[in-house]
Amino acid sequence: MLERLSNKRILLGVTGSIAAYKAGEVVRRLREQGAEVKVIMTHAATEFVTPMTFQALSGNPVYEHLLDTNAEAAMGHIELARWADAILVAPASADFLARLRLGRADDLLMAVCLASDVPLAVAPAMNNKMWSDPATEDNIRVLRSRGVLTFGPDSGEQACGDTGVGRMQAPELLISHLAELFETGALAGLHVLVTAGPTREALDPVRFFSNKSSGKMGFAIARAAIEAGARVTLISGPVSLETPDSVQRRDVVSAQEMYDAVMAKMEDVDIFIGTAAVADYRPDTILAQKIKKTDENLQITLIKNPDILSTVKQRYPACFCVGFAAETQNLEHYARNKLHDKAVDMIAANWVGADTKGGFDSDKNAIRLVWREGEQELPMMSKAKLARELVSHVAQRFYVRHKSALSGDNILHFNQKESTDST
Ligand code: C5P
Repeated sequence: MLERLSNKRILLGVTGSIAAYKAGEVVRRLREQGAEVKVIMTHAATEFVTPMTFQALSGNPVYEHLLDTNAEAAMGHIELARWADAILVAPASADFLARLRLGRADDLLMAVCLASDVPLAVAPAMNNKMWSDPATEDNIRVLRSRGVLTFGPDSGEQACGDTGVGRMQAPELLISHLAELFETGALAGLHVLVTAGPTREALDPVRFFSNKSSGKMGFAIARAAIEAGARVTLISGPVSLETPDSVQRRDVVSAQEMYDAVMAKMEDVDIFIGTAAVADYRPDTILAQKIKKTDENLQITLIKNPDILSTVKQRYPACFCVGFAAETQNLEHYARNKLHDKAVDMIAANWVGADTKGGFDSDKNAIRLVWREGEQELPMMSKAKLARELVSHVAQRFYVRHKSALSGDNILHFNQKESTDST
């Protein structure tokens, strides 16, 4: 379950409580699970632990001040709020809970909590009398009614010598509760390589052959794979799309460049998803000068490009390979043929005919997934949603195929070196 934290961005708020020293352990464990962590400290927290401690443990600068122009210019409170996938305030002091209930924005942590719409969890830590005081009880009740999650507190011996409810919940419990906020970790620990967009095959210095692919589907898949906890490499042809967060992107132009870039990365790839609309042919020579329109007829010889998908499968048979089939007719038939001819594990087939609503440049698409033992229709929906569904099916098929290699749930690496009998 903890793999759900892989690639998640956690903002940890630390407030003024003796339990602040345990927040270091929270940071350490979050990072162990693959989460990225940024820490915001209140002024009172810095009386207990130094920012340097959290900077060293999180590997990121620690944020303290709301009205610091330098800090705001680097990453202001709104950017911090947008950056996070979840906010955990641990320890959360009685004063912090009171201010949160009032909706104050008088320090950086409060301003970020107000400006954010991601899940907010608090781990109260205070003396047991402070915890059972009607004011604190009332604050907690109101905060819960607004959707703030409370983790703990636990009961036991306290720093002040009292015994009772008010101890901050143990770091391992805090992060296991936090992990439950995230839906999947279906691809945690795996390296996924996605190709996307069109390729351009140069004819002369200003002309090229290409196609209508926008890259949207491939980019959505890269994002969905990150959400599912994978490490993602995206190799893209020329598109005008922003790189999804945490994705490692490499831009290429021609099919040959895409082929070279893919092969250079394949060493530890577990899942290859070829969404790119790779040009099947390229001009046999790229002319040094622009072609003049002197002749009535112009003959261009095209030569075949390497097939990236089938080469990947041939050389790396253990890699789970998914191909796309964009068809204008006989979808089912061509998809099954492609599955067989390219010897891949799954084909995602979609219509790209003139009369279809989804496809190349659209934000929507519908897909028929085909694998050896079955198939699944994914009806018309946004490419973002479709990508999540596709990733979930890929993860299921991947684990079915590797079931025998699994012992327990903790072996998540199937990275396989190039087979020796290839090519
Ligand atoms: O053979 P066809 O081009 O229809 O196959 C489409 C699938 O093969 C897509 O997944 C595409 O990314 C991949 N492909 C490739 N290299 C090529 C041609 C297609 O990887 N040269």
